[in-house]
Amino acid sequence: MNDIQKELTTSLAKFCKESIEPHMEADDHDGKFRMEIFQGLGDYGVTGITLPEEYGGAGLSYMDYVYVLEEIAKTSVPYAVTVSVSSMVQTIINEYGNKAQKEKYLPALTSGQEIGAFALSESHAGSDAGALKTSARKVDGGYMLNGTKMWITSGGIAKTYIVMARTGGEGSKGVSAFIVRDDTPGFTFGKAEKKMGWKTSPTRELIFENCFVPTENMLLDEGKGFNVAMGGLDRGRVAIGAIGVGCSQRALDESVRYALERHQFKQAIFDFQGLQFMLADMALETECSRLMVHKAAESIDQKKTNSKLCSMAKLKATDAAMKVTTDAVQVLGGVGYTSEFPVERFMRDAKVLQIVEGTNQIQRVVIARHLKKEYE
Ligand code: CAA
Repeated sequence: MNDIQKELTTSLAKFCKESIEPHMEADDHDGKFRMEIFQGLGDYGVTGITLPEEYGGAGLSYMDYVYVLEEIAKTSVPYAVTVSVSSMVQTIINEYGNKAQKEKYLPALTSGQEIGAFALSESHAGSDAGALKTSARKVDGGYMLNGTKMWITSGGIAKTYIVMARTGGEGSKGVSAFIVRDDTPGFTFGKAEKKMGWKTSPTRELIFENCFVPTENMLLDEGKGFNVAMGGLDRGRVAIGAIGVGCSQRALDESVRYALERHQFKQAIFDFQGLQFMLADMALETECSRLMVHKAAESIDQKKTNSKLCSMAKLKATDAAMKVTTDAVQVLGGVGYTSEFPVERFMRDAKVLQIVEGTNQIQRVVIARHLKKEYE
């Protein structure tokens, strides 16, 4: 960690401890998201870390960003996810948007005054994202959107949405990407999902019924929407990996502390070799994940974004988070299964990290496709 990263994560850790941690257990129970917490993160300058300063971002590196996400995730996976999805939206607008789009939409997102959301999935188009059916029919001055998006993180609380919709024929080449604001006529929200974890991060259905979106809201050109989505996801997947690292680190911290304090058979349970092997493996998995995430972040900072490394980082770090958090519950035993300790919450929050931004099976598909190209 360099000096900037140390300073950033130290002050952020204090904010998370004082302003987020006290709410997490009750808000997890009630499924309550607090905008003031997100805006507080914005005041810390961490809701637009990698964006250029001219659009209100901090102008820092992707490596700085993954340290920040890891730190937030140690307290709250859902708030880290809200930051990461909103940041992915910013990255997409910054990379594929024109100057007018950047000036119009980025400042409110980078400052944390508003949240961004990414709408690709549909009920029948999850892993096979190129099969999406939401249509965008060309009309005078723009496009008419019709269809329903599913499982959208920050649905309802976000104001700016990147929506992938079909302007052409079947498959990925018929997809275009649009920027849609939440108050656009014809755009409403469907059911809020009841979930195992991520309870403080709302997940909603988005419904488009004759929703007119002007041509100026299209990103790049017609038919480029799938590439826009995949490009955004490459980087988003590294961010999800960083959140997995934070989740594992917290589970490890809780486990080691507990194992040192808890006595059974007249000794600290830490001193049983069976527990030592588990804790050592948990530490190893956490550190390997961090290294993988950093390697992928480095490729992004060097402007050589490597999809294979991005998928590897997401896959490794989120599978590890599931294993490490499950083992943490085991180390704490009966009390680990109760909400007296946060490890059961982290275990529930870890599960969906293996599913979002491409299931871990899809990450293996991406890795294998790269291997095939490299070896053929
Ligand atoms: N960057 C840019 N373009 C890319 C790309 C990348 N990483 N990967 C593929 N593309 C382009 C290809 O070059 C190709 O374009 P051309 O035809 O112009 O050459 C086009 O996309 C189609 O590529 P494929 O033939 O490889 O597409 P496919 O249909 O076989 O699908 C896939 C590939 C990897 C399986 C993809 O569908 C996928 O990633 N699926 C998972 C979907 C996903 O991740 N959903 C996440 C939802 S969002 C979310 O979870 C956020 C949240 O709420 C937390």
